[in-house]
Amino acid sequence: MGRRRATTNASTNPGSGRAEAPSLRADLNGQRPVGLREVMGVSTLPPAAVTGATQRLRAGLARLRRAPAPPPVRILEGLFGTLDLAALVALCRVGVPDQLTEPTDLDALAVGLAVDRDRLHRLLRYATVRGWVREDRHGRFRPTPVLEFLRIDHPGGWRAWVEFMGGEEVLTTLGRIDDGMAADGDPFAAATGAPFFDWLRSNPDRHATFDAAMEAGGRMHGLILARRLDWRAARRVCDVGGGRGALLTTLLTAHPQLEGVLLELPEVAAHAPDVDRMSVVAGDAFEAVPAGCDTYLLVNVLHDWSDHDAHRLLTSVRASLSHDAPGPPPRVIVVEGRTTRRPQDDLSILTDLLMFTLTAGGRERTRAEFAELAAAAGLRLDRTIHLPSTADAHVLIPR
Ligand SMILES: C[S@@+](CC[C@H](N)C(=O)[O-])C[C@H]1O[C@@H](n2cnc3c(N)ncnc32)[C@H](O)[C@@H]1O
Repeated sequence: MGRRRATTNASTNPGSGRAEAPSLRADLNGQRPVGLREVMGVSTLPPAAVTGATQRLRAGLARLRRAPAPPPVRILEGLFGTLDLAALVALCRVGVPDQLTEPTDLDALAVGLAVDRDRLHRLLRYATVRGWVREDRHGRFRPTPVLEFLRIDHPGGWRAWVEFMGGEEVLTTLGRIDDGMAADGDPFAAATGAPFFDWLRSNPDRHATFDAAMEAGGRMHGLILARRLDWRAARRVCDVGGGRGALLTTLLTAHPQLEGVLLELPEVAAHAPDVDRMSVVAGDAFEAVPAGCDTYLLVNVLHDWSDHDAHRLLTSVRASLSHDAPGPPPRVIVVEGRTTRRPQDDLSILTDLLMFTLTAGGRERTRAEFAELAAAAGLRLDRTIHLPSTADAHVLIPR
């Protein structure tokens, strides 16, 4: 019901005004609304200052932990760090998160999973040290909240990230980071023969896994942006490169006066759910962005692109802003990992290297770099809001 789907015509003005706001249930068309606890494991959002301070504390403790270790140990620990990824992938493939839902002894778990008892024990010992699994004083294994978040049916959907990162193409590309050292280097293309989004297009199963991983972050940012940005005057929001619409759906649910427009590549747009008040536009954001919205979101999109392409994208968004439309003045909200000139031991330093690895020139950017990009596209960085996800929301307005 209520789906208004436009195809390959991003310059149209999709979505008409509705007389009445549909109910939450109608919004979700039967999908269960997810809350903060299911998506982030917290019942209320901490202030961004608290998550920032926690992050700095964790970084300090990590420095303390590393400092006394002699160089060879630090080298080996660095190299073996890849085993975290491998162990998470193995745990999920074997089915540990789905089987270990209550305190269970090793024998029962091995039988339930149909695996060798001793091999399972070694994997679980590793997982215990990492804090993904707990062993109680009776020698039974118990899930931790991390393991619960990895269940296949967990509403947060974070398991998809394990499935994405464990893909052959990602693992191969991780071994080719040095292929990205030239200014136009693209390790992913060097490893697979095609740039990331082109490769996904010809590998639909892996595309679906990537989209599902993006959905987990999209739900989280939907909940965060719904609470931390001011939506009172907003009426129509366009999520540029918004995946299968998880962010937009979450946002529309929280703010019933909003209409949403999802702009995505055709192969992703085709899988967007049928959600009331959300129109889906299949198109290319470099070519055109739907006009007529007061808020344009670019969440974890610019970091996929080089400065040159990020400039093209922002220019394309800028061209769609209307100055004389009724309603609030238009704004463009760019959400990306918080990055400072001095490198910090945080998520953003990881996603920066991940973008280095998976894309041709994608990167995380500092506030000053966003201000520069915005200015070159005819926009002004009005303010930056720290988010509890440790990302920043940069609010850009026309100059
Ligand atoms: C890193 S994902 C971010 C998805 C989502 N915004 C989020 O935060 O979860 C980048 C998205 O941009 C989309 N994308 C890539 N090129 C695009 C283009 N030329 N036009 C529109 N969307 C594009 C991809 O399909 C993908 O869903």
